[in-house]
Amino acid sequence: MQYKYLASRLENIHSDIRGPIYYRALEMEANGEKVLKLNTGNPAAFGFTMPDSIKDYIVNNVEKSLGYCDIRGMLNSKQAIVEYETSKGIPNLTVDDVFITNGVSEAASLLTTALVGEGDEVLMPNPCYSLWSNSVLASGGIPVYYDCLEENNWDPDIDDIKNKITKKTKAIVIINPNNPTGVLYSDKVLLEIAEIARQNDIIVFSDEIYDRLVFDGKIHNSFAKLAPDLTVVTLNGLSKSHCLCGLRCGWIVISGNTEKAKELNKALVVLASVRLCSNALMQLIIPTALKDTKYTNDMISESGRLYLQRKACMDAIDEIDGLSCVKNDGAFYIFPKIDTKRYNVTDDKVFVRGLLETKKILVVAGSGFGFKTPDHFRVVMLPEHKTLKNAMYEIGDYLQTLKK
Ligand SMILES: Cc1ncc(COP(=O)(O)O)c(C=O)c1O
Repeated sequence: MQYKYLASRLENIHSDIRGPIYYRALEMEANGEKVLKLNTGNPAAFGFTMPDSIKDYIVNNVEKSLGYCDIRGMLNSKQAIVEYETSKGIPNLTVDDVFITNGVSEAASLLTTALVGEGDEVLMPNPCYSLWSNSVLASGGIPVYYDCLEENNWDPDIDDIKNKITKKTKAIVIINPNNPTGVLYSDKVLLEIAEIARQNDIIVFSDEIYDRLVFDGKIHNSFAKLAPDLTVVTLNGLSKSHCLCGLRCGWIVISGNTEKAKELNKALVVLASVRLCSNALMQLIIPTALKDTKYTNDMISESGRLYLQRKACMDAIDEIDGLSCVKNDGAFYIFPKIDTKRYNVTDDKVFVRGLLETKKILVVAGSGFGFKTPDHFRVVMLPEHKTLKNAMYEIGDYLQTLKK
């Protein structure tokens, strides 16, 4: 699309999660059709309710959220974040290393505004949650994708990362656990990425918003813990772990004792002061939320909703001819692959649109995450397990109509 009056950097910014096919789903709903929307990782839309501890806290303390507060965030809340990230092994943190933001989304935008200039390159995974490519594009930078290899449990391809470093590379983004694949990166790969960052003097942005949503007793290791000497920006929040997307609660923690971290910190103060402060109500609940580990752990335990929903998806995929999927370790997503040798799918968006029109199920095409081959789609595994299993069967049913 050509913009006449708007900045040309807008041209490549797009989100297929809420793109044209999503708008078609809304149109269908407006016409009275029932659509199962599996496009956004928004637990409240699927009946996940807020933790009681937080509800009680808000009811009793809402008055404390009426004024502007500190640019970086409320002291108690920053302390709770320092405690949390320290417990994850990130060393030497103080409250001055923390910025509380309106979600990880605002955090990404503040960071790229601070660091990415016209023509600067930022490495990010392929497939990638579009927040990162869009934030880089909005700052005038260039997203450069490194491959994550499905045959390797979706681990990043280290050689590909090395090959894509140029003089213009400013930062590397890691999303761990990943969206859309749902996998946890191996420590080996994280340490290899750290070595690349070390050798090339690159800042690392580690988006860890799903760090507490990991199944099967697996451990999430913060990148900053594994690379304490590097300048690392860790991003996290409460949207997913406490199902509070609408409250817009996120944070940035800068670690690594370098001059660069200090400069970045100052730049963020300037930028954060432009928006005065982040939403104060969500800041108030951070200490209570971070203490309430039970709420999150219940979701991922073997009898928990998320665990059962993942099982429903994976069991159904096992039964469906033409679909396969690397088992996810966490997050809210699965990223199945269509066997295009046997099924007539040459354009993943056409597949997704056909599924919507035929079965009234909305998923997101893999190309919406920058994925190169048109044979994947992302399913949000948030509905109750029975609904989800049926939805997977319906997807399988639709796929059979495309058999070669
Ligand atoms: C990897 C990743 N990062 C960030 C976000 C945005 O989070 P927030 O609600 O904190 O803005 C999402 C939301 O889906 C996500 O999947």
